[in-house]
Amino acid sequence: MQNLMSLAPTILREKQRDFSWDFPTADTKEFTHNLHSYPAMMIPQVARRLLRVYGKSVTSLIDPFMGSGSVLVEGMLHEPTTTLYGIDINPLAILIAKAKTTPLKPELLEKEFSRISSNIEYKKDAELGFFNLQNISYWFKQNVIEALSKLKKSIDEIEHEKIRNFFLVCFSETVRKVSNTRQGEFKLYRIEEKKLAAHSPDTISIFNQIVKRNIKGMHAFYSSLKFLDKKNEVKIYKEDTRLKTSIPSDSCDILVTSPPYGDSRTTVAYGQFSRLSSQLLGYPYDEVKRVDQNGLGGKRNYEENGLPSLHLKKILDKITSLDKIRALDVLSFYHDFDKCIDEINRIMKINSHLCFVVGNRTVKGVKIPTDDIIAELFTSRGNYGHITTFIRRIPNKRMPKINSPSNVKGVTSSTMDKEYLVILKKI
Ligand SMILES: C[S@@+](CC[C@H](N)C(=O)[O-])C[C@H]1O[C@@H](n2cnc3c(N)ncnc32)[C@H](O)[C@@H]1O
Repeated sequence: MQNLMSLAPTILREKQRDFSWDFPTADTKEFTHNLHSYPAMMIPQVARRLLRVYGKSVTSLIDPFMGSGSVLVEGMLHEPTTTLYGIDINPLAILIAKAKTTPLKPELLEKEFSRISSNIEYKKDAELGFFNLQNISYWFKQNVIEALSKLKKSIDEIEHEKIRNFFLVCFSETVRKVSNTRQGEFKLYRIEEKKLAAHSPDTISIFNQIVKRNIKGMHAFYSSLKFLDKKNEVKIYKEDTRLKTSIPSDSCDILVTSPPYGDSRTTVAYGQFSRLSSQLLGYPYDEVKRVDQNGLGGKRNYEENGLPSLHLKKILDKITSLDKIRALDVLSFYHDFDKCIDEINRIMKINSHLCFVVGNRTVKGVKIPTDDIIAELFTSRGNYGHITTFIRRIPNKRMPKINSPSNVKGVTSSTMDKEYLVILKKI
């Protein structure tokens, strides 16, 4: 471990507690934002305002931890941006983000929807055991499996890939709602045995409701883009931001993102959230089960701390004195984050702005100032300035407000009720 004195503190500007970033009553489900739920989604109003303030004349935008693509949707609706890049390791995130950023004529969707609806009627003898999921009856009731099987077959018959993707997203959202999993959780937990008997979802009507809602959202998105009359080029890659990506060097004018705020084991499990849908969609099991492991901090790394952040050094010392293994896990996450900074540095243009929306979690009772750590990791490179950090309260974001910082059952603390908007500039 480094000597504390050997780290020169980098200069960070004072934080601004600015409640105008809260947007407590805003409609977060406009356009295609409501196509599919996803953990820790960025609210559109935050992305929109960041683009308006720091991206007045930008043409290219990147979200290197794109998730469901909220930032890309806002980027498409932001007048000057024409090239939009998104990266994520999760195949379900790729499908959702592609569907959310693909404007489709609502009439085409309506037409396909009525074909699917009448087709299902005739698929009475659809083969069972169609899905490649071993313990399928643990997660779904028999009548649900039959209905999902008919839906999936009807959707797979759609020739036009973009239209098929739209309905696959509706299918995936249906899977979440009709499975035997507890709703409102990111992790995969089955409904308690005694409540399971009363759980009898009507799969087809849930699918129909989701399709209607999503066509409405697409209608608003399609009309707004038509009104703007601009051409967007959206490039979405299933890649790892720690490695060299397909994005050209010095190509991005602005970065807007909400990265993971810790490893998936102890924070948000994107892989677990996506697992059932991804398996029923037919994604390779090997890939699906590794999403959490392949995320930032997903694998423990025994490298020493050589990262240039005084804040990180301080909290690691505290956590190490309480639990060496947890300290290693925290450090592994930041080592991975620093690899992403190398890649981000390669693709960002000089004078570009970088906006990170992060949460500060607690480990073993120690609050981790991820906002300061990110700012230090960038500014210590010498070619980044810290413009400011805004603090906003989280009224809407689907995040665990209570966690177990000590991993001791019953010991919880209120956390993640604030977000930090770290604004940096490449110089
Ligand atoms: C907070 S979520 C992003 C949510 C997004 N802003 C939205 O509104 O849907 C963070 C994302 O980072 C992705 N991720 C984790 N590790 C990654 C890596 N090494 N490279 C690229 N993406 C990664 C996760 O799969 C997850 O989708």
